[in-house]
Amino acid sequence: VKPHRHPLHGVASSFRKTSSMAFSDYNTALVTGASAGIGWVVVERLRKEGLEVHALARNRERLAQLAVTTGCKYHFADVRDNAAIANVVSGLEIDVLVNNAGLQRMPSISECNEENMDVTIDVNLTAVLHLVRLVMPAMVARDRGHIINISSTAAIHRFESSSMHHAAKAGIHVLSQQRRIDGHGHRVRVTQICLSRTETNLLGTAIGGDMAEARKRFFYGYEVLQPADIADAIAFVIRVRAHANISNIEIVSTMQMPGGLRYAKSGG
Ligand SMILES: NC(=O)c1ccc[n+]([C@@H]2O[C@H](COP(=O)([O-])OP(=O)(O)OC[C@H]3O[C@@H](n4cnc5c(N)ncnc54)[C@H](OP(=O)(O)O)[C@@H]3O)[C@@H](O)[C@H]2O)c1
Repeated sequence: VKPHRHPLHGVASSFRKTSSMAFSDYNTALVTGASAGIGWVVVERLRKEGLEVHALARNRERLAQLAVTTGCKYHFADVRDNAAIANVVSGLEIDVLVNNAGLQRMPSISECNEENMDVTIDVNLTAVLHLVRLVMPAMVARDRGHIINISSTAAIHRFESSSMHHAAKAGIHVLSQQRRIDGHGHRVRVTQICLSRTETNLLGTAIGGDMAEARKRFFYGYEVLQPADIADAIAFVIRVRAHANISNIEIVSTMQMPGGLRYAKSGG
């Protein structure tokens, strides 16, 4: 009896060269926004997976603390400072870039001031564009790399929150898709992770720093995501074999319902 042969039998051995487990293909990661919340836990996770991790944020003390507990290297810089960021990345061969630094401002577009508008776009979108500009060409040249953009359900769903935040994250959504076109023909993977409410200080900062109030409004009694859920997703998209690119992940609380249907009556 002839053994059953899969139609791709024989192709597999040459294919296998590019299909190893991807954590072992990569050596070095850069994680922005690493001094708190999701970024902090992602650094811990990538260190456990054996990568050399460069943690970047503005808070020097928090980064130094993270370095003690994880052995990561750290760089204090504002992601809006192009010269400082260029200086950080120039000496590194970055295999995994996690664009995580971000913030949220609450006011609606008609109520926000100029500063709220600018900082939302500058940190959440423009800085990500610059980092990709600085890091991706070397990935393409090496034919190896993975860019992971921490986005939001605000990128792909419409709901009541700040329009400028939705616009910034929607920009990340488009960038993530377009980058796959720019890098076409090279083994540079791009993943967008869209997440919903996650228990960090982000929303407390967004309402002016009252963390107790934020706990009451956004977290107490709700089953929301934890930073470890995002770190798990990141580990998953990296670990999948190198020929596979997971382009989009949406993670929401099981107890959350996206969408809805509302009509305003004519006359207001
Ligand atoms: N938490 C949520 O509910 C939620 C939901 C959807 C999406 N996200 C996204 O998840 C990502 C991480 O948020 P998080 O919840 O972990 O927030 P977080 O706890 O407030 O942490 C934000 C991180 O970004 C850094 N950061 C902010 N501005 C920066 C700047 N100008 N330069 C460098 N670093 C800066 C902060 O560090 P320094 O202050 O030390 O600079 C901090 O490490 C963000 O992109 C956010 O939009 C979060």
